[in-house]
Amino acid sequence: MALFFFLIFAFSTGPGLLESPPKVRLVRGPHRCEGRVEVERNGEWGTVCDDGWNLKDVEVVCRELGCGAAKGTPSGNLYKPLADEKQKIFIQDVNCNGTEDELIECDRVEDVFDCSHSEDAGAICEKSPPKVRLVRGPHRCEGRVEVERNGEWGTVCDNGWNMKDVEVVCRELGCGAAKGTPSRNLYKPLADEKQKIFIQDVNCNGTEDELIECDRVEDVFDCSHSEDAGAICERTVRLVDGPGRCKGRLEVKHQKQWGTVCKAGWNLSAAKVVCRQLGCGKATLIKRCCNKDTQGQGLIWLSNVSCSGQEEDLQHCLSGLEGYNNCTHDEDTWVECEDPFKLRLVNGDTSCSGRLEVLHKGIWGSVCDDGWAKKEEQVVCQQLGCGKPIFVPAKARKKFVPGNGRIWLDDVHCKGEEQSLEQCQHRSWGYHDCNHKEDVVVFCLEGQPDI
Ligand SMILES: *[C@@H]1O[C@H](CO)[C@@H](O)[C@H](O)[C@H]1NC(C)=O
Ligand SMILES: *[C@@H]1O[C@H](CO)[C@@H](O)[C@H](O)[C@H]1NC(C)=O
Ligand SMILES: *[C@@H]1O[C@H](CO)[C@@H](O)[C@H](O)[C@H]1NC(C)=O
Ligand SMILES: *[C@@H]1O[C@H](CO)[C@@H](O)[C@H](O)[C@H]1NC(C)=O
Ligand SMILES: *[C@@H]1O[C@H](CO)[C@@H](O)[C@H](O)[C@H]1NC(C)=O
Repeated sequence: MALFFFLIFAFSTGPGLLESPPKVRLVRGPHRCEGRVEVERNGEWGTVCDDGWNLKDVEVVCRELGCGAAKGTPSGNLYKPLADEKQKIFIQDVNCNGTEDELIECDRVEDVFDCSHSEDAGAICEKSPPKVRLVRGPHRCEGRVEVERNGEWGTVCDNGWNMKDVEVVCRELGCGAAKGTPSRNLYKPLADEKQKIFIQDVNCNGTEDELIECDRVEDVFDCSHSEDAGAICERTVRLVDGPGRCKGRLEVKHQKQWGTVCKAGWNLSAAKVVCRQLGCGKATLIKRCCNKDTQGQGLIWLSNVSCSGQEEDLQHCLSGLEGYNNCTHDEDTWVECEDPFKLRLVNGDTSCSGRLEVLHKGIWGSVCDDGWAKKEEQVVCQQLGCGKPIFVPAKARKKFVPGNGRIWLDDVHCKGEEQSLEQCQHRSWGYHDCNHKEDVVVFCLEGQPDI
């Protein structure tokens, strides 16, 4: 009997058991701290009518969700898809004084009769900055995992690292679905020996919002940086039909489908967000897009995009109704960013033929032809905006070699569909068993020299 009472006591005082789950949530926003407001009643989630909805009401929502300061009171129209017609609207005329801990403590009217889902209330709260980041990958949603502790960034040992753990990382970063659990040396350069490894045996159940909520071991003793965990999350923006991965027609992924973006309202701040998200360099504003060959087809997902330029992700910018606009593909958006991976063809008659050089650590160097073939040439020509490679007899290539200086890359292997030579496999920078007679020479169709 004593044991029985002890158990009841232990259970009823255990952490979490006395706390009921939040009675409010934000849906369809970029992260759990922004979106359309929903409140729960008898196990059912309904919306809030935005009559009288103001920043004090949002303050309470943000507090209740542990999301920091209130930043905005958007109307639910912004968060798509809109609520289903059948979903109920539970409350209106919400009037918080701003000090309440929960929305249900605020004055409100529970009989909603003259409100539609286009008036659903929304909330934007300040979210604490992510405590996890991905480094050395091709964009901010792929790379080696780093976590922060007391202002210092450390890595994660890959024992037990799996797709559920990556799901949580992708969610925390607002990066879309988990795609892969790469580890072991994929992202170069490797972490510096002095950088600490903070956690191991991470074991998320996959539903957590942040990696620090997952089970893990904080004493790491038998792990090296060659076992650092990595994550690949789904990309939600891409630039297509242009030269390289940093220039092209903008496409966004929504509801599992890629679609274009209408350029109405597009400006340099929006282009900056896209370039940053892709891990590309500086943005330039391009007004013209596209001709018949480069314009998109199919869905036009966004129009009237409005970014301040500080957003981490295009999803965090305001935009016109998804899929509802009067745009045509003549108005597709084209984005050009600087490609941080630079290559050039030298000594040819045009910039589309010659000896291949790549820039690394500020120095131009050549590429060795071991394993070099048609697919690798395709990637180079495409990346330079020079069309397709053309076959040229070995004799014609000779006049371009030998080069001099550094030999940066060797054993390059591409699949042919890469948007940048950077995405192909190769030996570590500067490691080779070549001499300059083996320098790669490339001829592309556009700007073909007379031979
Ligand atoms: C705000 O509302 C709460 C809940 O109704 C109440 O307890 C509190 O005294 C109010 N504070 C002010 C400053 O009006
Ligand atoms: C997953 O873990 C979180 C945080 O520890 C916990 O709140 C949640 O109940 C767990 N879910 C499942 C399905 O185990
Ligand atoms: C574009 O957005 C602005 C504010 O961001 C808004 O005032 C305007 O009505 C929108 N235009 C269209 C066609 O949606
Ligand atoms: C782009 O437009 C947004 C609003 O639509 C504005 O906040 C921003 O300052 C603009 N940026 C530039 C560079 O004009
Ligand atoms: C599209 O065009 C129609 C007819 O000109 C107009 O009524 C409607 O408001 C437009 N829609 C948008 C989103 O601009």
